[in-house]
Amino acid sequence: MILQDFAKKKSAGAPISMVTCYDAWSAALIAETDIDCILVGDSLAMVVYGHDTTLPVDTDTMAAHTAAVRRGAPDAFLIGDMPFLSYRRGLEAAMDNVAKLIRAGAQAIKLEGAAGNTELIRHLVESGVPVMGHLGLTPQSVHKLGGFKVQARGDAAAASLIDQALELEAVGCFAIVLEAVPGKVAKAVTAKLEIPTIGIGAGRHVDGQVLVLQDLLGLSGTFRPKFVRTWLDGSTLIRDALQAYHRDVSEGSFPNGEESYE
Ligand code: KIV
Repeated sequence: MILQDFAKKKSAGAPISMVTCYDAWSAALIAETDIDCILVGDSLAMVVYGHDTTLPVDTDTMAAHTAAVRRGAPDAFLIGDMPFLSYRRGLEAAMDNVAKLIRAGAQAIKLEGAAGNTELIRHLVESGVPVMGHLGLTPQSVHKLGGFKVQARGDAAAASLIDQALELEAVGCFAIVLEAVPGKVAKAVTAKLEIPTIGIGAGRHVDGQVLVLQDLLGLSGTFRPKFVRTWLDGSTLIRDALQAYHRDVSEGSFPNGEESYE
């Protein structure tokens, strides 16, 4: 997939599949599938580092994981997520942080929200950096939002979301993630835009879907939000494999002769 394919897929009515990824070995597995693109999301802070929010992760950490994903998936279309406040401390600092993700191997960056970001987005696009927007539940604003809650409920909030999406499109975003918004609102936003929407918890009437890799593989324990489907019971499979390894070591059946050097 290249940047231009996002628009082509929208006009062809062909859904875009995106998945998060944070390391080289799972990137290599994704690269063997037909998944369209990879997001090195700042959900990394929660999924990999065990934090309660995405706020603790910084640009250097995002860049290190972006580089790892790039090594695992050399040909994938890779989007690097700008972490909390990394694009809110003035244009120059933001450009330095964007450069870190692009130099680490991202082809595009994603940032959250429209208010206060449009000048930066326009500048990035004019500088040759593709930008993906992110509206609805923007986890970097978790404290302002009062938790990880569905957004854009009610007519005024829905109208405001549409306005923000149109603003992001006008300044040059090539796609917008819509997170945790009612399906009918996501549908209305999608119909208004020429650029594709990629939903997570935004229903079916969007131009693509994104999920956290560990969620779809059933590796997120008891964390099962309504919008997640699991295609694998990964936790059970991995736990069983680890237990079997322990059993074989404990019983002395591992390693056997074939697994040992003469
Ligand atoms: O950080 C992330 O993984 C994301 C997706 C959930 C869209 O922003």
